[in-house]
Amino acid sequence: MDEDIVENIELEENDPEEERFLNDLRPKTVKDYIGQEHVVGNIIIGLEAAKKRSEPIEHTILHGPPGLGKTTLAHIIANEMGTQIRVTSGPAIERAGDLASILTNLEEGGILFIDEIHRLNRNIEEVLYPAMEDFAIDLILGKGPSAKTMRIDLPRFTLIGATTRVGSLSSPLRDRFGLAFRLDYYAEKDLEKIIKRSAKTLKIQVDEDAVSEIAKRARKTPRIANKILKRVRDYAQVKHQGKISKKIAKEALSSLEIDELGLDRVDREYLSTIIEKFSGGPVGVETISAAISEDRETIEDVIEPYLIQIGFLNRTRQGRVATEAACGHMGMETKGQDQKLL
Ligand code: ADE
Repeated sequence: MDEDIVENIELEENDPEEERFLNDLRPKTVKDYIGQEHVVGNIIIGLEAAKKRSEPIEHTILHGPPGLGKTTLAHIIANEMGTQIRVTSGPAIERAGDLASILTNLEEGGILFIDEIHRLNRNIEEVLYPAMEDFAIDLILGKGPSAKTMRIDLPRFTLIGATTRVGSLSSPLRDRFGLAFRLDYYAEKDLEKIIKRSAKTLKIQVDEDAVSEIAKRARKTPRIANKILKRVRDYAQVKHQGKISKKIAKEALSSLEIDELGLDRVDREYLSTIIEKFSGGPVGVETISAAISEDRETIEDVIEPYLIQIGFLNRTRQGRVATEAACGHMGMETKGQDQKLL
């Protein structure tokens, strides 16, 4: 695969070594991809149909919480199609000209991957409409009454967009994707398989019960499972333990302040703020954001989806409400107010 990463890619706030570590563990083919069977099955059909017609695969939108494999799938699609992939993100494209230049430089059949596509500026988004539909862009030359538009043909390409908030996409953009897939949280048995696969790739020995312990605490998310595996490996090395036992895994996890359900310090602070400061809720997200100094988008896209998934949080019209299960887990009681909204 001729993989070509555009410079303006916005990496997450991880250190580059960690980023490389996680990249190395990413499966490269559909065959190696574990979980999300429904999505992968449909991608395989899309790939085979495209290959039969000698066409690029249809424009595809991948959505769902962070860390579930949207970027990995985009790379797998490129790899399976034997084509180039260029990677960028919504906030990294500042001007329409940036996008025009990326598009005109794609190879025939190439893939453009735009992460966080919901953050693309609306003016820039408009460049995408004819690009996606007609494989052309309209350049405006000059100003005022003498301005002319010039249509430039593009290579046939596939746009793969990834987003944690599909509801924030404008409908003209959403409608132009032929394929749309939602990635879901992983079952524990699939996470266990992923951890074993990663351990094998990294040549580390992990006991069966240590694998389950990591899987239980990885918030149903492969990226977190792999990050924990890395930390546990470091911990084992420092403690001069070759093989990772359940005891070592548990020690490493508690030193990382990750609890039995995979909640970290920020998750617990979020819950304890609702339960203790706001009597269990309902409380508005902006208020929580100010109280715990996390921005609203992180709260909505990263912290809350998992808490909702495990039944610890309800989003109501009046605000966020912590459930009894959350209070039980935190060993806290709400101050006085009964949870009438539940
Ligand atoms: N590593 C991260 N995500 C994975 C997945 N879904 N399958 C296999 N390995 C992975």
